[in-house]
Amino acid sequence: ESKLQLVCLQDYEEHASKILPPFVLDFYRGGADQEQTLRDNREAFKRWRLMPRVLRGVENRSMATTALGYSVSAPLGIAPTAMQKMAHEDGELATARAAFSEGLVYVLSTVATSTIEEIAAAAPRGNNWFQLYIYKDRQVTVDMVRRAEQANFKALVVTVDTVLLGRRLATERNELSDSGSSTSNTFVSSLFDPSLTWKDIAWLKSITKMPIVVKGILRPDDAELAVQYGVAAIAVSNHGGRQLDGVQATIDALPAIVKQVNGRCEVYVDGGIMQGTDILKALALGARMVFTGRPILWGLAHSGEAGIVNVIRLLKKELDLAMALSGCSTVTDIDRSLVVHQGFFSN
Ligand code: FNR
Repeated sequence: ESKLQLVCLQDYEEHASKILPPFVLDFYRGGADQEQTLRDNREAFKRWRLMPRVLRGVENRSMATTALGYSVSAPLGIAPTAMQKMAHEDGELATARAAFSEGLVYVLSTVATSTIEEIAAAAPRGNNWFQLYIYKDRQVTVDMVRRAEQANFKALVVTVDTVLLGRRLATERNELSDSGSSTSNTFVSSLFDPSLTWKDIAWLKSITKMPIVVKGILRPDDAELAVQYGVAAIAVSNHGGRQLDGVQATIDALPAIVKQVNGRCEVYVDGGIMQGTDILKALALGARMVFTGRPILWGLAHSGEAGIVNVIRLLKKELDLAMALSGCSTVTDIDRSLVVHQGFFSN
């Protein structure tokens, strides 16, 4: 009866866990295997502590930046997540509209419940990027690239950590029970090509002028290869802990990759962002921008486009406050010295 007041992303998560059907919640929330990486993505942020500057005159602040040369209102983008109509009937259309009205990058998943053309119609002036899985059938892949080009999408985000689908145990259990409600991507993922190599990135580059973002890099040597193959950006990601369990938390993988890349392409990070200080830490460790996946689904489940706008505004408000309290007026003021790893002082 007492109206729930949602004041942080954790509140949205808790609300979603109460209202979503269990099999949908399991699909959205879950990670691979024992979910070590899923947990660690969040825990790792807490091991980086802030070292705020004071007395810097922060009365005029801006979070604005650019991504691939396009202006964005904040260093925050919406990660591609599959099948959003399971959260709300407006699905991806609500997400694309919310991203546009808030001035953020929106990434449409290959595994979506809306088409490329529907997104273009819903947010024609949006900064829409298309997440691509390279299919075994290269003509299917080419067709998707052409449709994204024609729909004025600005970039291709090629996900490289999903040559096979990781095991999500809760979803497997649900499918074994006789509920009959399959939320699995098993069929779609059987179309993905496990024979992919870096040559396929070169192939993709040869068939399109769209900038390419490689999503799912966790090692500096792979980041180096991505730079050599001419990508526009690297997304440090472990797929929200849904693929190879036991990999490093993304915030911990980020610094070595930033160092290796040394400004030769943009570097983004996703995984476990739950509050403004997480974004501040990621930027301090060298990310140009962060992406968020699940919290957007929780906002969508709450109230469609309006719920997503609320989640985005909460994150922006928290980032603005975190910047002010650490002496940063603009994102260029956020430097490496703002964070220290607990390993440096706990022993
Ligand atoms: C994803 N993610 C994902 N990534 C991708 O490249 N294509 C996809 O279709 C999907 N689908 C998907 C579905 C669901 C339900 C989740 C939770 C995630 C991964 C996503 O883009 C991103 O890497 C993570 O979600 C980031 O972690 P957080 O923000 O969810 O902690």
